[in-house]
Amino acid sequence: MDLSKKKSIAQVCSEILADGLEIDLLINNAGFNPKDRKDDPNYFQSTFKIEHFDASNVAESLWINALAPMTLISRILPNLTDDAVALNISSWLGSIGGKTSGGHYGYAGSKALLNMFTRAVALEFSDTNKSAVALNPGWMRTDMGGSNAERTPTEVAQAVFALWRGGKLSAANGKFLNTDGSIHPW
Ligand SMILES: NC(=O)c1ccc[n+]([C@@H]2O[C@H](COP(=O)([O-])OP(=O)(O)OC[C@H]3O[C@@H](n4cnc5c(N)ncnc54)[C@H](OP(=O)(O)O)[C@@H]3O)[C@@H](O)[C@H]2O)c1
Repeated sequence: MDLSKKKSIAQVCSEILADGLEIDLLINNAGFNPKDRKDDPNYFQSTFKIEHFDASNVAESLWINALAPMTLISRILPNLTDDAVALNISSWLGSIGGKTSGGHYGYAGSKALLNMFTRAVALEFSDTNKSAVALNPGWMRTDMGGSNAERTPTEVAQAVFALWRGGKLSAANGKFLNTDGSIHPW
């Protein structure tokens, strides 16, 4: 689905609903970093520097990285099993306390919003066995992370599944985790 389009999300969710799929682990992994929009040379700066700030462009990151994942959780709620985990792939750049450099309104702002939304839905889940967890995957060798990054996405995926199989995601409702299961500061 195209997460930037409400209709596309709605269509996939209605198919999931119609199929009656039972989902025990929802990983909201897709993410958008405005630095990767190469078609417009001014785009990245318009989400990064206050003197070029463009609210519509910043909102695009907020939508894809935070509002779309939460829309997905909301729409497939009936398909989530009683002890399902909704795992939102966040970033250390979404940590408010850990922010040490200026700007980056689109990407860092979107991940900070995703962290808050994860915490918010986790507290809604607190009287159920469902969990919502934000996860910092670390620096990965992908298109976004580049070839100098520390870990392969496979290594990260294996670590995440180990956390899930070990029950550590279920036990981490409302937390911001690293892939070794330690807590990342908000
Ligand atoms: N790489 C890192 O070092 C790093 C660090 C911290 C956090 N993260 C987070 O980890 C997650 C995975 O990132 P990555 O490194 O794999 O990034 P990536 O190499 O840029 O890949 C992004 C993925 O998200 C999908 N995507 C982007 N916009 C979308 C949209 N509008 N609708 C549907 N799918 C969309 C892309 O699909 P297409 O290929 O079809 O465009 C692609 O599969 C992201 O949430 C990212 O923010 C990554």
